[in-house]
Amino acid sequence: MTHTPVAIIGAGPAGLTLSHLLHQHGVESVIFESRSRQDVEETVRAGVLEQGVINMMRQTGVSERMDAHADIDDAIDISINGSRTRIDLKELTGHQMAVWAQHEYLTDFIAKRLADGGTIFFETQVDDADGYDGDKVVIDYTTADGRHEQMTADYVVAADGSKSPYRGPILEQDGAVRSRHEYPYAWFGILVNGPQTQKELIYATHEEGFALISTRSKDVQRYYLQCDPNDTVDQWSDERIWEQLHKRVDGEGLTVQEGEIFDKSVLKFRSAVTDPMQRGRLFLAGDAAHTVPPTGAKGLNLAVADVSVLAPGLVRAIKRGDNDLLDNYSAIAVPRIWRAQHFSYWMSSMLHSVPEQGYFQHRRRLAELEAMISSEAGRRYQAEQYVGIDLPKFEV
Ligand code: DHB
Repeated sequence: MTHTPVAIIGAGPAGLTLSHLLHQHGVESVIFESRSRQDVEETVRAGVLEQGVINMMRQTGVSERMDAHADIDDAIDISINGSRTRIDLKELTGHQMAVWAQHEYLTDFIAKRLADGGTIFFETQVDDADGYDGDKVVIDYTTADGRHEQMTADYVVAADGSKSPYRGPILEQDGAVRSRHEYPYAWFGILVNGPQTQKELIYATHEEGFALISTRSKDVQRYYLQCDPNDTVDQWSDERIWEQLHKRVDGEGLTVQEGEIFDKSVLKFRSAVTDPMQRGRLFLAGDAAHTVPPTGAKGLNLAVADVSVLAPGLVRAIKRGDNDLLDNYSAIAVPRIWRAQHFSYWMSSMLHSVPEQGYFQHRRRLAELEAMISSEAGRRYQAEQYVGIDLPKFEV
């Protein structure tokens, strides 16, 4: 039977980044991914990288395409009924942000892992991971051509997204918690072949609801509109989309640029935190452990933060038999996850209109937003959270 120090389930941001960081320290791993490479590289997701993630990509040799093609911005705009305020992230924090779609990030990390001799099994289903309470993990899996195989590992990391079955055994432990929150709104996301409305992102609020102007390139734009969580794609004709985008965003000489809409989807809003994120030799990373709502695009960044603790923890344990950092993985990762939950919740609640909450809450919400953007301290607080706290750093 073959053996790997670290078996990683899932080739998303958490799994690929972990495998890459382990390799940087001479620890090999195997990634099992149920989907095809093409599917992973084409699925549309969010697209904002915090400064810490940009730095990590640059320092570990994965930034070439991002540096050449990403939209690297100094600021975002907050728009209230068509009147915009610029939040100058660079001036307020010294940091920038990159608009680089998640599937581009994954494409970069898959290419880098393969160039570095890494192993990624695509279209491979993990059927079972057992033995994590003992001294070795056994992975049962089905290969792309239908063969049943086994592999042993010193550790297994479930980085297989929000539906991960590996939360189950973790939540069986005494004191384990899965905390959730639901939101009364969702986003309708579109991709558009057309010119940029504005290089920098616009987070807009309006009586009719929230809208977000983002971009993918000079010719492809990414726009979102607040919608009802039960809305379906066919309820949003192109005409309705453009009418609502103009209403919610246009003003002060700026007009949303139209184009051919080639992708429509509804994004759910949910928060969830799992604590702890480990049991014996089993660890959770990224969405397998936690979910944030899309506002502020913290999901990928948080997955990278998790593995910035997990990777050095695993390296120390495997190379030196030192388990201290690994034992403290959840204790270190979970407070940051709660901070990201708070930020994503706070941004979401200030920017979305919920008519059922009544006139008082509506005016209070706008007053909160106005108080924040009219104060330099408020703008700085917002900017600090948006660009993100630095990634955790541990010597190995
Ligand atoms: C994008 C998504 C977000 O959730 C966000 O806050 C900013 C940008 C995007 O997909 O471009």
